[in-house]
Amino acid sequence: MTFLNLGEQPPANALLKDEAQEETSYPLALCSCPTCGLIQLSHVVRAELLFKEYFYFSSVSKGMEEHFAVYADDIARRFVPENGLVVEIGSNDGVLLKSLIGCPLRILGVDPAKNVAETAQKNGVPTLTGFFDEVIALSVRKEMGPASVIIANNVFAHVDDLDTVMRGIGILLDDNGVFVIETPHVASMLANLEFDTVYHEHLSYFGIKSLSALFDRFGFEIFDVKRQSVHGGSIRVFVRQRRDKCPPPSEMVAEAIRIEEHEGVFGPNRLESFAHDVAMLRVKLKGLIAELKGKGKKIAGYGAPAKGTVLLNYCGFTTDDIGYLVDATPVKQGRFCPGVHIPIRPPEFLHADMPDYALLLAWNHREEILEKESRWRHAGGKFIIPIPRVEIV
Ligand code: TYD
Repeated sequence: MTFLNLGEQPPANALLKDEAQEETSYPLALCSCPTCGLIQLSHVVRAELLFKEYFYFSSVSKGMEEHFAVYADDIARRFVPENGLVVEIGSNDGVLLKSLIGCPLRILGVDPAKNVAETAQKNGVPTLTGFFDEVIALSVRKEMGPASVIIANNVFAHVDDLDTVMRGIGILLDDNGVFVIETPHVASMLANLEFDTVYHEHLSYFGIKSLSALFDRFGFEIFDVKRQSVHGGSIRVFVRQRRDKCPPPSEMVAEAIRIEEHEGVFGPNRLESFAHDVAMLRVKLKGLIAELKGKGKKIAGYGAPAKGTVLLNYCGFTTDDIGYLVDATPVKQGRFCPGVHIPIRPPEFLHADMPDYALLLAWNHREEILEKESRWRHAGGKFIIPIPRVEIV
């Protein structure tokens, strides 16, 4: 059942080099499986078009860097024997693996985006460039032996052919190994109206029930789940091969499914009310921006995340509404936001220009950014927070 339609949109991370660059838009809509609660995009854009050059560098956020350092330490201590192999799929700029450098273990990243993989190499993280599949899994196993741990953070949702990845995991993971994934939780997306996390790179919106159904087909099972606050509410899922003598899964697994049921992930009524609330949020946000512009206020956008592209395009904002965006990622600066063609500038531009308001597109880094911009706020600057509800702080 299709329940949310965000219209035709260009790929959210395809930042433009110049304002007049041609771009292609594709349908952006969500449909759901009533049985396992898996929510998916109705239209798939080819991965080659989305991931070869990537503008997302995880290490730009200090909060995420800390998050991954604690995460890596926990995994290494619990699951990796001396000289064990840790492989990360979608390792980006090495944000997680770099904190394991110097530990008595081996690390390997795999990432399809050449530019971020190069940064990882510079960070001292050996990285293969490619989409993880059976072929890569076989060659890594041959050269380095089985992996004690395979990690996939914020990447499972990006994969169209999950069967290939799961077969690769089956090949590379040690019999007693652990596969750990971290992914946004569909229950949080619904509860917090995070409609802007819907973009062409995110093909699937997972919960524990839908992930369990997937793993089950490949002889794996979830044995633990930890909820995380990152990316608007995520789950860290611990997976092992299904065997007779394993201790029972943690109580948290059943608890996460109860949360999904309570949030109504599996029912059409809740999904329709989510879509209705999203439409209402747009009315409110557009109304607020129009009102402020009517009073002659100057408004910028803070952050140029993929989710910002979705929100700006869904609301149909132009440079008349939001003059420019600021983002700390050097490769994003000087580019233009897809679809709406709003220019992206460095954060210093905000301090020089002193707009009255900044629409916080990177709302998932709210605390970090509010603190970072305390001087601008003390000088009178105000943030408009769009999600989970429109507010001014
Ligand atoms: P992110 O949260 O990863 O969102 P998405 O997955 O939707 O792309 O992106 C956050 C963006 O915000 C990223 O481009 C970096 C930017 N940013 C800043 O400009 N300043 C900051 O202090 C932080 C934390 C992020």
